[in-house]
Amino acid sequence: MWRVGIVTASDKGARGEREDRSGEEIRRLLREPDFEVSAWEVVPDEQGRIKEVLIRMADTERLDLVLTTGGTGLAPRDVTPEATRDVIGREVPGIPEAMRLASLRKTPFGMLSRGVAGLRGKTLIINLPGSPKAVRECLEAVLPVLPHALETMTGEFGDHGESLSFKRKS
Ligand code: MTE
Repeated sequence: MWRVGIVTASDKGARGEREDRSGEEIRRLLREPDFEVSAWEVVPDEQGRIKEVLIRMADTERLDLVLTTGGTGLAPRDVTPEATRDVIGREVPGIPEAMRLASLRKTPFGMLSRGVAGLRGKTLIINLPGSPKAVRECLEAVLPVLPHALETMTGEFGDHGESLSFKRKS
């Protein structure tokens, strides 16, 4: 079971003026038995605050996967990708590439999400856009690959190069 953190970047959400439906959508899609949501926070669109919670979820809570939602667009306060770049060691560009490809099949506005993904130690951090619909479209595109990605990241990979998740399926 992979331990997951959800970080919703939203000024209105952090002030309690908006329900966190995007965070809820992430929780709905990441079902047990593969995933368990262990932490969930709503923070304002501030680079320092987002960095702080990402670092805590990775280094202190040692979560396997952290999914952010919101703050990936072009508005002046959209800083989630910058906060994420500040805390990751290695970028995983294929994940946002796959999400944007899937998004563009649904809407040209998909090109406006600047989300990134990368590793901080043994934590994979992925930026998702802010709306519940965008969360669903993006997360569904990468979800089938996540168990293999996480196994590779943690070194829980079969002796003969076989992924445990692939083994489970067969
Ligand atoms: N991706 C998908 N799949 N579906 C969408 O509806 N909306 C876009 C884009 N990505 C969208 C999407 C829009 S309108 C914006 S502004 C950007 O994500 C950034 O959203 P954010 O600032 O809420 O993160």
